[in-house]
Amino acid sequence: KTGTGELDRVLGGGLVKGSVVLLSGDPGIGKSTLLMQVCGTFCRDKRVLYVSGEESARQLKLRADRLSVNSDSLLIMTETDVETICEYIKQNKPDIVMIDSIQTMNHAEIQSSSGSVTQVRECTNALLRTGKSLDIPVIIVGHVNKDGAIAGPKVMEHIVDAVLYFEGERNYAYRILRAVKNRYGSTNEIGVFEMGDDGLREVENPSAALLSERNTNISGNCIACVMEGSRPVLAEVQALVTPTGFGNPRRMSDGIDINRVILMIAVLEKRAKANLSNSDVYINVAGGLHIDETAADLGICAAIITGQTDTQIPPDMIFAGEVGLGGEVRAASHVRERVKEGARLGFERCIIPKQSFSSLSRSENYGIQIIGVRTLEQAFRAINADKEKENKE
Ligand code: TYD
Ligand code: MG
Repeated sequence: KTGTGELDRVLGGGLVKGSVVLLSGDPGIGKSTLLMQVCGTFCRDKRVLYVSGEESARQLKLRADRLSVNSDSLLIMTETDVETICEYIKQNKPDIVMIDSIQTMNHAEIQSSSGSVTQVRECTNALLRTGKSLDIPVIIVGHVNKDGAIAGPKVMEHIVDAVLYFEGERNYAYRILRAVKNRYGSTNEIGVFEMGDDGLREVENPSAALLSERNTNISGNCIACVMEGSRPVLAEVQALVTPTGFGNPRRMSDGIDINRVILMIAVLEKRAKANLSNSDVYINVAGGLHIDETAADLGICAAIITGQTDTQIPPDMIFAGEVGLGGEVRAASHVRERVKEGARLGFERCIIPKQSFSSLSRSENYGIQIIGVRTLEQAFRAINADKEKENKE
């Protein structure tokens, strides 16, 4: 175990001895910060070698101070020659090695400059051989770079044992760590962090964090319960529906695949008789979260339809369910976990597919009203139920 819970979760429990992990992400997203903090918890009882080719020892010291990392068992090396580094590893045998970053490393036998495809590949291979032969785990930082001159981490993805992506919008505080390849565990777990003045903080309760800035008085806002690996997360889906100025209506989406949004708009037009052909639709998922699950469909539809009619979804309601092309609401996985997450965060009503009732137990009290729907129409009726009741009264 690395001692950083969110990192361990993504790695599938912890680091495997002798494994090589690639940590990649955009420059400035917080890779060095994450590693330095991991060093901090790791070197309480183990020896860590942190090699930096990007920063001077003084800069590293400043960062370590800022993150309150201070230990005699943290070895710092500012070196870019891979053979020197491997030699040092062989002699000192640290318990874990971190390389920041692979693009700055240099293998003397290779002619091309650091960061080129051959350099990146050979340096990775050299580190991998050293790590495997001594059973030492190695974490390698690789910047994602669209510029063709510097080899991106893509060229080393097949060599290493696990590939982690550290992502997020730089102007949001939330950072999500995701495994895209893992020889020793599943790849659908995520770790959530928040960048603050004194480094990254683990977010053990992402739903609460993502909902903290929620404004319940806005039309087109919907809480969808999505699964991120084995963990349910409540995400705020926002839809802004405005009249089209001229020409083709625009559809834009941040956080959800645009094609899925276009599909949902088509289903709403055909099956729910919504008129969106003269409306621009903008979708956003609050907090910079990326949703990649069809069970978010019902939430997307609810957001768009209430955005269009300028109405509000009752603030105590959450949604989960896939929407088919016929406007039918299809079963979702992990319904029990989703319902429980909603109840845990104080929601009172949960709209789920009727089909999913079979995975809920009748005797269990979930502490939340569960409303099963078969079609989009039934779902929209549930949203408007309060208002109709008021009108009658
Ligand atoms: P860094 O770890 O240097 O990014 P990378 O190694 O991925 O290139 O992180 C850089 C950003 O993080 C920088 O913009 C400043 C910010 N930051 C904080 O907000 N708080 C902190 O405590 C630290 C150390 C960095
Ligand atoms: Mg860095």
